[in-house]
Amino acid sequence: MKAVVCTKYGGPEVLQLREVEKPSLKDDEVRIQIYSTTVTAGDCRVRGFSPPPMFKIPMRFALGFTKPRKPILGVELAGVVEQTGRYVTRFKEGDHVFGSAGFAFGSYAEYSCLPEKSALAIKPAGLSFEEAAAVPVGGLTALHFLRRGNIQSGHKVLIYGASGSVGSYAVQLAKYFGAEVTGVCSSANVELVRSLGADRVIDYTRGETIGSGERYSIIFDTVGKSPYPLCVSSLTDTGTYCQAVMSASHVLRGMWTTVTSGKKVIGGVSTERPEDLQFLAGLIEAGQLKPVIDRHYSLEQIADAHRYVDQGRKKGNVVIKVR
Ligand SMILES: NC(=O)c1ccc[n+]([C@@H]2O[C@H](COP(=O)([O-])OP(=O)(O)OC[C@H]3O[C@@H](n4cnc5c(N)ncnc54)[C@H](OP(=O)(O)O)[C@@H]3O)[C@@H](O)[C@H]2O)c1
Repeated sequence: MKAVVCTKYGGPEVLQLREVEKPSLKDDEVRIQIYSTTVTAGDCRVRGFSPPPMFKIPMRFALGFTKPRKPILGVELAGVVEQTGRYVTRFKEGDHVFGSAGFAFGSYAEYSCLPEKSALAIKPAGLSFEEAAAVPVGGLTALHFLRRGNIQSGHKVLIYGASGSVGSYAVQLAKYFGAEVTGVCSSANVELVRSLGADRVIDYTRGETIGSGERYSIIFDTVGKSPYPLCVSSLTDTGTYCQAVMSASHVLRGMWTTVTSGKKVIGGVSTERPEDLQFLAGLIEAGQLKPVIDRHYSLEQIADAHRYVDQGRKKGNVVIKVR
């Protein structure tokens, strides 16, 4: 089969399209013929080996010392179940599915095998394979952090980085949960963030910032760019500051804030559970959630897609058409 192999850590040119063995199927797995995958910000981090400094040593152990131990990158996928292992009960051959391979990666390829217990679900009928591939990572991450912030109807929620993949889902999910949502983005994305349902938009490129009297139950920084002291002082007395990207200084300051006040600071890696992906599929089918797609590339153009995502300016998601 065709697959993109990450030959070593480095720039996008380390990604090479090659002919490799089709993966063999275990008894508890499904083999998926992949129609679409994506390039996430996390894929670029792994390729370039640029985790936040505090994670550099543990990540070398987890991912591989000089090159990725799992050379076929790619987390998200959508495709058709080609074959099922003999213990599989949730899926059958021919099912249209979408999901996340998590740290198993392997989605930059024509086929991938995933345990049926992984974050995999039947693709919503109204979504194309390209759209469906763009849901799992951003959608599950947004859901994870909003739930950890104990989002409630009527909460005031601020989403920093509202135009990225995680942010665009976070705005829509926070609205679904009944929150009053403010999004932070650049001028170029103000209309997009409004169209996703944000009640208010703060345009950071025009020098706008959180007003001094504003108080939020949840501040969710999806991109690691928010000003820490201003965000903490803008939380309600029991508010939560969620950070999808956490620097070492924020970890320490977060512990101090959590211990010394009623406010909480939360980071870490989001969980990816099949029932949560099913929940997102239900919202998509009900017309309450939609993926934002910025650009499409082919598998052959994947280095160009990585170059684009490396810039950190994508609007929503970047999709790779495999088939
Ligand atoms: N913790 C976890 O479990 C977890 C899971 C998934 C992803 N992540 C991480 O979450 C981060 C976000 O990923 P992503 O795919 O949503 O997006 P991304 O590609 O990292 O970010 C793109 C967006 O960030 C916005 N942005 C850039 N600088 C900004 C700033 N100073 N203020 C506000 N917005 C800014 C850009 O909009 P403008 O051009 O408008 O600025 C763009 O739309 C990544 O670092 C990823 O690795 C963490």
